[in-house]
Amino acid sequence: MAGLFGANRFKFGVFGLNCAGGMTPSRAPERWRADWDEIVEVARLADTSGVEFLLPIAKWHGLGGDADMWGRSFETFTQAAALGMATKHTGLFVTAHVSLITAAFAAKAIATVDHATHGRAGLNIVCGWNPDEFSPHGVTLDGEHRYERGLEWYEVYAKLLEGGPKFDWKGKYFDLKGLVTDPLPQQNPRPPIMSAAQSGDGQDFAARVADILFTSMQEYDLTRGTVEHLHGLAATHGRRPDVYVQTQFVCKPTRKEAEEFVQYYAVEMADPDAIEYFARQRRTTMSRSTREGDTLADKTLSATLTGARPRKYPGMFAGMFPVVGTPDDVVAEIQKIASLGVAGSTLVFLNYLQELPYFVQEVFPRLERLGLRDRFATA
Ligand SMILES: Cc1cc2nc3c(=O)[nH]c(=O)nc-3n(C[C@H](O)[C@H](O)[C@H](O)COP(=O)(O)O)c2cc1C
Repeated sequence: MAGLFGANRFKFGVFGLNCAGGMTPSRAPERWRADWDEIVEVARLADTSGVEFLLPIAKWHGLGGDADMWGRSFETFTQAAALGMATKHTGLFVTAHVSLITAAFAAKAIATVDHATHGRAGLNIVCGWNPDEFSPHGVTLDGEHRYERGLEWYEVYAKLLEGGPKFDWKGKYFDLKGLVTDPLPQQNPRPPIMSAAQSGDGQDFAARVADILFTSMQEYDLTRGTVEHLHGLAATHGRRPDVYVQTQFVCKPTRKEAEEFVQYYAVEMADPDAIEYFARQRRTTMSRSTREGDTLADKTLSATLTGARPRKYPGMFAGMFPVVGTPDDVVAEIQKIASLGVAGSTLVFLNYLQELPYFVQEVFPRLERLGLRDRFATA
C-alpha cells in the first residue's frame, strides 16, 4: 500500500461491511443484511471511487436483541481474498483476534491475501472484549492481560515477517517451536498494522505496533488533545502512526431529511437489548487502566460503558461520531475533523448500498475542491 494508502489528506475506510447490522445497532428493516452480492457491489463502488480501504470486523457472536446484530458475519481473511478478486485498488484489512489465531497462521494468511491482491493487505490486531466470542473456540478471554499477551503475539508475528531462519520462541504467553514463514508478504517491510484499542493499556499497545491507530471522538476539542497524546506516545517508541476516528454518516439532500432519518433509525428503532449486551460484555473485560480511569480515553470509555454519559443517538455506538446533514454540512464537519490532525475516518451507514453512492457522488467532489482528496481516476 503506497504511503499508507496514498496521498489524500483525508482518507476513508468502509467499516463493518462483512457483518449483519454493519456498525449500527438498529432494528430498522432497512439495516445492512450482509448479503454477499451486496457486499461485493459496495466493495466495487468503494474501489472505483478511491476509498482507501475496507475494514471488516472479526465477530463470532451476535449482540442479541431483536436484530441480533453481527449474528451473521463473514470471516475476514477469506473474505479479503475473495474481495481482492473483485477489486483493483482498495486496501483490504483482515482482523486477527490474538487469542484465536496464532502468529504463524496470521503471517501465512496475510501473505496469501497480500500476494493475491498484489500488495493490498492490512492487518487489524485485536485483543478481544467479549468472552462469549471465545467460548465457541474453547478459549477463556483474559481481560486483565489482553494487551500484554497481544504485544508478545505481535513480536512473534513481526519476527516471522523478517523472513530469517527457523527460530523458537519462549516468552511469558507463548512457547513455540520451529517458526518460519514463506512466502513473505509482497509489501515490504510488511502490510500496515491497525489497532483500535481505546483504553490506556490498549493505546500503549497500539503506540508500539500500529501504523494506523483508531481513537473514538466525542468532542472536537478533546480530540485534538487525544491525537497529540497518541502521537507523543508513539514517538517514545520512535514511531509516527496515522490517527483515524470512527464516523457514521447520514447525508441527505436536505437537513430535515437527514435529521428525520437518523431520528428514525438511531433513536426510534435503536436496539436497546443489543446495546445493553454490548456494554455489559465490554465491562466484563475492561482493562485495569479503564477501571482505574488512568487516561482521558479510559475515563470516557468507562463513562459510556456505565451509562454515565448521555447519548443523543442510542442506535449508534458510543465511539462513533455522528455526521448528519446535507453534503455541504458533512463536508464542513470533515474539514473540522481533518483540522485536528486526524488522517481519516470510517465510512459507516445504516445501509451501505443505499447510502454510499449518494455520498460518493455529492461529498467526494466537494472534498476534492477543498484539496482534502484528489480526484480518483481508475486505471
Ligand atoms: C475501528 C475499530 C475496529 C475494531 N475491530 C474489531 C474487530 O474486528 N473485532 C473485535 O473483537 N473488536 C474490534 N474492535 C474493538 C477494539 O479492538 C477494542 O477492543 C475496543 O476499541 C475497546 O478498546 P479496549 O480493548 O482498549 O478497551 C474494533 C474497534 C474499532 C474502533
